[in-house]
Order: sequence, then C-alpha cells, then structure tokens
Amino acid sequence: MTDFFGKRVSGPFTIPSGIITTNTRTMKRVANDIPQVGVITTKSIGPENKPGNKEPILHCVEPGKPGTFVNAVGLRNPGADNFAEQLSDLELPGNRFLLASVFGAIPEDMEYIVERLDPYVDGFELNFSCPHSPGHGASIGHNPDSVYKFTKAARRKTDKPILSKFSANMSGSNNSILSAMRGGSDGITAINTLGPLHHYLFDDCNMPVLYNIQGSFSGEKIRKTGIKFVKRVRELIGSDALIIGMGGITCAYDIDKYREAGADFFGIGTVLAGMTTRQMMRYMAALERDMETGDYEAKEYIWYNKSGHKNFRVSNKERLADDLCILTLDDYFDLEPGQFVFAYLPKVYDVGGESRPGEKPFSLIENDPATLVVHRRGSFSGALTELDEGDRLYLRGPCGDPVDLNSVEYGFCVAGGTGAAALYPIARALDRQDKFVSFLFGGRDEQQIAYADDRDFSQRVFLTLTTDDGSRGERGFVTDYIEREIRRAVSDETVVNVDDLTFFNCGPAPMIEVAEGIEGRYALGENIWSSMEYLTRCGYGLCGECARDDGLRSCVDGPFLNPYHMRQLEMPL
Ligand SMILES: Cc1cc2nc3c(=O)[nH]c(=O)nc-3n(C[C@H](O)[C@H](O)[C@H](O)COP(=O)(O)O)c2cc1C
Repeated sequence: MTDFFGKRVSGPFTIPSGIITTNTRTMKRVANDIPQVGVITTKSIGPENKPGNKEPILHCVEPGKPGTFVNAVGLRNPGADNFAEQLSDLELPGNRFLLASVFGAIPEDMEYIVERLDPYVDGFELNFSCPHSPGHGASIGHNPDSVYKFTKAARRKTDKPILSKFSANMSGSNNSILSAMRGGSDGITAINTLGPLHHYLFDDCNMPVLYNIQGSFSGEKIRKTGIKFVKRVRELIGSDALIIGMGGITCAYDIDKYREAGADFFGIGTVLAGMTTRQMMRYMAALERDMETGDYEAKEYIWYNKSGHKNFRVSNKERLADDLCILTLDDYFDLEPGQFVFAYLPKVYDVGGESRPGEKPFSLIENDPATLVVHRRGSFSGALTELDEGDRLYLRGPCGDPVDLNSVEYGFCVAGGTGAAALYPIARALDRQDKFVSFLFGGRDEQQIAYADDRDFSQRVFLTLTTDDGSRGERGFVTDYIEREIRRAVSDETVVNVDDLTFFNCGPAPMIEVAEGIEGRYALGENIWSSMEYLTRCGYGLCGECARDDGLRSCVDGPFLNPYHMRQLEMPL
C-alpha cells in the first residue's frame, strides 16, 4: 500500500491519461485486475463531446523496438455531462484513487467540468499539455497567466487534490509550473507527449501518416527528456508537492531514474502497446517486483512490433455488387487465423483542399496473396472500392491474438456478410489439419455471398449458404440453419460428441447474439468464439476504444473472444 494525497492506494503506478483507461469499461477492468495501478487516470475530459480525429490516430515509429509512437487522437471524449453520468455508475475498489484528467478552452470550462465531475472522483489533473489541439492543452500551458487563471478556476470548484500536467516542449514552462502551483495545484504530472511534429511515413508518396498530419511522440524516445524535465520540476516546486513522472518508462531501471529525478508516482503508458490484458497484468506485477529486486523480469512481457506498413499493389479487382468488391494484392501478408490487419491509404479525405490519410481494420480472406473483401460503408471503404488494378495499398499488422486451433476437434463457423472473410482462414487451417468443418455463410442476397465458392476447401468442409431473400442457397438468416447443421453432423457421425464442436462466429452483433444463444445449448462457453464488430481505432490496444462491456479490448485480447477469457483473468498469474 502506498499513500497518494493521503489516500492508501494499492500500487505506485498509473496508466497515463488517454491510454487504455479511456472509458469506464477499461477503468473498471484495470482497477479490478491490476493492483499495481493505484491511480486510475481518466481520458482528458472537456466541456462537450469531442469526436477527435479520424484514423490513423497512432503510429509505431520504430518497428522492432519496444515502442516509440506518434499520435494525434484529438482529445476525443464524451464531454463532462455524459462522463459524469457514466462515473455515477462506476464502482472501483476502495484503494484506488480516481484522477480525472480535464481540459478546457476558457477558465469557465474548467469550473464547469470540475464541478460536474467532483462528486465522483478523488482528484483532478489539469491538462496544460496536449500538444496538437489548438486552443487547448499546451496552447494554454505556454502562458503562465492563463495557467494561473485555469488552475484558480478549478480550485474554486473543488477541495480535492489537483495536479497540473505539463509537457517538456514548452517555452517558459518554469513560469507556467510556478503559476499552476500558485493557482492551487498540489503537484505536477510530467511529461505529456513531445511535439508537435510532422511525421512522414512513406518516402515514395511523402504523405503524413496521421490523419491530423501533426502528431507527437510518446514512449522510448521521450524518456531522457522526461527524466530531465521531472528533475527541473522538482527543483522548482520543492520537496513537498507530489510529482507523477512519465514518458517512456519500460522497466524498473527507468522508474529508478524518474525517482532519482524527483517523481513519487509513475505513469506506465506506451510500453503497454500490443499487450493483452493478461500480459499487462503480468507485466505490471513483474515491474513492481523488479523495483524491489533490481531485475528485468518485466521486459519479458514487452511487445515488439515486428513490422511497419507493407506496400502492395492491387493485382486484381472483382466487383461483386455496387457496394462490394474483392481486392487481391500482389504479395502475401504474414498473419495467423483470427488476426486482422489495418489497410492504409495516403489520400482519403479532403480537408480544406488538403488530402488526408485514412485507415481501417480488415480481415484477410486469403493471406497469400493478401485478399480483402471490401464492403462500402463510409469514406475509407468507399476509397478502397474506387481502387483500380495497379494502385497502391498499404497494410499494417498483424493485429490481435490468433485463435488456438490445435485443441479444436470439429470447427463450426457461422458468418454474416463480410464477417466471412475472418472465418475462411480458420476453416482452411482446420481443413488442412484434416478436421471436419461446418461453414455457414449468410448474406442479404446472392451478390453479398458471391465469393463463397472456390476457396480451396476439401470434402471435409460442409458449406451452407443462406440469403435473406432466397436468391441463393437457403432462404432466411444464417442462424436459422445452425441446429439443422449440428443434427447433420451428428447423424453423419462427422462429430461423435456434440461437446467436440468449437464454434466461431463473425458478423453483426445481432447475428452473434442469436448464434451464441443457440450454440450455448450444445457447447460449453469456452468453445464459443465470437468476433463482433467493435470500433477498433488504433489496433495496438492503447486507445481503449474497442473495449467490450467487460473491458477486454478486442484489438489485443481478441478479436475472437469468449467467456474463457474472463476466467483466465481470474486465474493466478
Ligand atoms: C494514444 C495516446 C493518447 C493520449 N491522450 C492524452 C490525453 O487525453 N491527455 C493527456 O494529458 N495526455 C495524453 N497522452 C499522453 C500520455 O498521458 C503520457 O503523458 C505520454 O504518453 C507519456 O507517457 P508514455 O511514454 O509512457 O506513454 C496520450 C498519449 C497517447 C500515446
């Protein structure tokens, strides 16, 4: 137990604002599972809902190293009223300190937000440091007078502890820090990301990698600057005020350096990229032990992003319907069944006459050559359907946790619409292991399932096609045929015991709900795997957006998830 502003908390770490604990689902998950995180810091909350930037919002700058990232999320948040409502239902263990990160454009914003959130939180962190959000964050932090006014405004509305968060790239930051303390701050959080900078990804097209064009660094690359800055802050504010130090911490040695510089608590952020929830639990526990022993056990759990973007050309385009096409690319992409990729295009959006990049997650129906099924839904998928043979397309990944097929006796795949793309590699891999597979694939009409054939299946794969309008295969929903197919498998003796069935579902949420309900009558929960469409934005597990209600993040813990994941989290580390 450690003391944080007089509250006994379970551990010396926080996950910095904007990383993983960006909503109440992940806040709860982290608070319940990771005692080392004694301080739960929220996403920065403003006066109103702010949708933030489109994807790409985050990019790994140095693949192969344990993570330097450049990001521009754009202070995406639900707004103070909505967030207060969410917090009113949130229960956290008593030994966690709930720190609300807040930002505003004028001091009155600060008053409003602090007043709204005050009943539900233990303290506040004023964001004077977000580097790429004009009118907020660092643009206020640069000006000592403004910092004083904003801190004073927050102080008027709360008696709880206030930290002010600064970034190391601020000119005149000494005066700003002192102004924050004079205005009523009880301590300082340092540092925020370093930037802004223009970060260019591709030499050949020289286009920015982030939608926002400007982004800023977090992770390894900013550690030295962070440590130096914390030292300066400690000298400025004296020994009594509290400092949360962060920026590129990866191991206990880094924590020691921050502690020597003057930090009391430690933010562990970007290093968590790519870790599943279970890995994050192990990492944090090891990190705390390493602080005692001086070991480097925690480093074992760090994820090394092996690849950056891979550059392809479209070698074949097959248009199946007005809003549906198949793009075959000119090379393979290395990924395992259950994993997915992000497709990136450098020019998707037109913002004031300037073209901006876009990126979205996709399953590959084949990986050699890489093949995508594209259903036009918005601007990005629209731009993909406009590609012609010979055009460039970039993929990054693989993302997500592969499904474990070794223990599967009989695979039962239920696909709705483009969800089938994720299930074909699973079915094919099982087929190659000489296992029987039932493959049920349903769509709106015959065009939507036009790519169902010819996917290299052997006689061991039993294909059932359904369409809502009966234009091909059976008429009705794909879920209407699950029980019939189970009975067929039993009577043909392709499955001896119904318990041997392992279900894989992929499609829209309502389809999955119905499928799981039926399958649950035959199989144990741990044999039902579903990939639902969640809003996966970063693919590294950092932005927290794709969390399910239980706080598991689909992009690292999934995308195929089942109740067994929850039990695994309850098992001893
Ligand atoms: C994806 C992402 C989103 C972030 N969002 C915020 C934010 O909303 N508010 C804030 O004060 N800092 C934000 N930050 C900065 C972090 O809180 C932290 O200060 C910084 O990443 C340095 O720590 P790290 O190197 O361990 O990640 C964000 C950082 C990242 C990578």
